[in-house]
Formats: sequence, structure tokens, C-alpha cells
Amino acid sequence: MLATRMDRLGTETAFVILARAKALEAQGRDIVHLEIGEPDFDTPSNIIAKAVEALQNGETHYGPAAGKPEVRQTFADFIAKDRGIDVGPDNIVITPGGKPIMYFLMTALVNAGDEVIYPNPGFPIYESVINFLGAKAVPLKLAEEKDFSFDIEDLKKLVSDKTKLLIINSPQNPTGGVLSASDLDAIAELAVKHDFYVMSDEIYSKIIYEGSHDSISTRPGMLERTIILDGHSKTYAMTGWRLGYGVMPKEIADAVAKLQTNCNSCTASFTQLAGAEALTGPQTEAEAMVAEFKVRRDLLVEGLNAIDGITCKMPKGAFYVFPNVTGLGKTSSELEGILLDTYGVAALSGTAFGAFGEGYLRFSYANSQEMIKKALDRVAEMAKALR
Ligand SMILES: Cc1ncc(COP(=O)(O)O)c(C=O)c1O
Repeated sequence: MLATRMDRLGTETAFVILARAKALEAQGRDIVHLEIGEPDFDTPSNIIAKAVEALQNGETHYGPAAGKPEVRQTFADFIAKDRGIDVGPDNIVITPGGKPIMYFLMTALVNAGDEVIYPNPGFPIYESVINFLGAKAVPLKLAEEKDFSFDIEDLKKLVSDKTKLLIINSPQNPTGGVLSASDLDAIAELAVKHDFYVMSDEIYSKIIYEGSHDSISTRPGMLERTIILDGHSKTYAMTGWRLGYGVMPKEIADAVAKLQTNCNSCTASFTQLAGAEALTGPQTEAEAMVAEFKVRRDLLVEGLNAIDGITCKMPKGAFYVFPNVTGLGKTSSELEGILLDTYGVAALSGTAFGAFGEGYLRFSYANSQEMIKKALDRVAEMAKALR
């Protein structure tokens, strides 16, 4: 019999749909994969070369829980310059992927009964961990009519004296939305006034198509209450390497490192060194990926908007579109099933990202233009059959 807390733990449906799609492929079906949030490119060659060199140099041992000192220094220098904030190596904890930062950070900060406000639709692990810890998950609805941002007045209504943490994510998964500078100003004012922390998930900060990334950590009074989540999975096509990090006040970093000691000891040493190379080496391959994502985004958005029953906003960042499919007369979850089983397109129901995702599907455009065109033909065929 499992512990009762397991009833409160959610999951990430992308992996469930991926497994179903793979099972269909094993039966000989032709499936287009637009379900998983992982670049289809190879890791840039300079990063691979650095990892090989590190392995050959014996970087195969345990290291400090928070990360190798010189790599923490490199990550801190990068963040200080990139975000324009005053941070050093003591503020950095390196983890196997960005995801452990969510789990460790919330475990370190949130008591049972505390309230955590999180974006909905949003990355499903936020809600899962909040519930798992026995805290109250307070959804902040992201609205299509606000370009998948929210009204600051709505956020104000959700803040109470029990609010411990607010989670924001920009550019956002699953909507591709980007928070404006004025939204960030208003959120920061609220955080300072009501004395809560902000976990700012900035893992898509380099995958942005208009302007440049803006971090809430730069706002007055925010450095001591912001935890930035970042990592290499998306920007450098390093999902399988497992490399991420958090940037946070030292006392929180110490607690997060202690949790890491209790859980996975440290992040692989050679992976960390390759990660330092990623940040300091040439950015040409990473930039070329973003340029290609932009072409695919335009192709997919235009194609979806040409289909009767579907409307799709132009996302400003990340590599997802979140079209409104209410015109097709089925629930999001029904459409996810029909698309995969009958038309061979793996996509995710908007509800995989929370209750406010009903009426939407999420397509990842981390797949080739050829595959996106094939998927569009199939979605159009489905829409025709349903209408
Ligand atoms: C918003 C968001 N944050 C964090 C992550 C975690 O990434 P990682 O693979 O580095 O753990 C993801 C991955 O899909 C994501 O979409």
C-alpha cells in the first residue's frame, strides 16, 4: 500500500502521450510527434567535445552538492551579465535538469497550509509539487484574450496573508506567452508589499522572437525574494544530459543544496563542465535553432488559422502553440485522443496543463517543417470530419 501523499502527486502527461505514440509506432502506424517539449536538434558540437575531454580528464567523480565551484562561478558570471543582477557563486545551485529546482525549492520554502499561486494553464509539475507538499495550489488563470498573460487585479485578489510563493514562467509553456515589463513591475510591487517569494521559471529565456528577455529579479527589492530557474535543456538541446540550475539568495541555496545531498548528491561533473562551455563558447548553433523555430512557428500558426474551427495566437517565445479548438465541438481531451488514434498526430490536451487549458491543444514545433506540414494536413482532415 502506497503512502497517502502519493494520491496528491500529479504527473507530466507529455511522457504518457509519448509512450502511447511510441506503442502505436511499434504497431506500424505513422505518427507525427508534436507532443514533447524537446528540441529535435543535436547538442552543439563544442559542448559535446568539452564533455568528452572532461571524461578523458577523469571528471567522473562526486563533486560538491551545489555544483563544482568554477562552474558555479561561470554560471553566476553569465547570469549577472545576462540578467543585469548582482549574484555570485554562492547564489547558484546546479541540478540534474531544471525540474529539481521546482521540487527542492518548494520543499525548502513551503509549509503545509501555505498558499502558492501558479499559472494555469502552466507546467504541470508546479501544481503537482504544491499539492504533494500539502500546500494550497491557487491557480492564476492565463487568458487568451490577454495574450496568455493575466490581469494584475485578478492576481491581487488571489494574494492572501498565507501566500508564500508565486510562480511565473516567461516565455511560457504551454502558451508561448511572454510577460510584459509593466506586468513584471506590478508583480514585483505586489511581492514586496505582501512579502512573498517569486519563482521565476526562465528556462525559455533565450527562445524569444521579439525583443529580449526581461527578468523580475531586476526589479527593486526582488533579488532577495526571487528564485530564477534556468537550464540547458531547451537552449542548447541538452534534455538528456540533465543540466539545470537555480539562482537564489544564499540561505535558500544552502537549503536547496542540502536537499540535493539527501537526494542525488550532485550533478554529473563532466555534464557541468560541458554546461560551462555552453555558456562561454560560441552561440551560433543555439541562435540558428531559434531562427529555425521562428520559421516553424509562423508555418504552424498560419496553417492552424487556415483551418475552420481553430484559431491560434502568435506566441512570442518558447516552441509551443496553444490554439483554441472550441470550434470543433469536442473536449480537448477527446481531440487529443482522436488526433492520435485516428489521424496519427501526437499533441497534448490543454488540460494537461491545468483546468484552464480546456478548449485548447498544445502543439510543440520542435519538429521539422516537413513534419509540421504533414501534421497540419492531418489536423485539417480531422477538423473537416468533425464539422
Ligand atoms: C516551463 C518549464 N520549466 C522547466 C522545465 C524542465 O526542464 P528540464 O528538462 O531542464 O528539467 C520544462 C521542461 O519541459 C519546462 O517546460
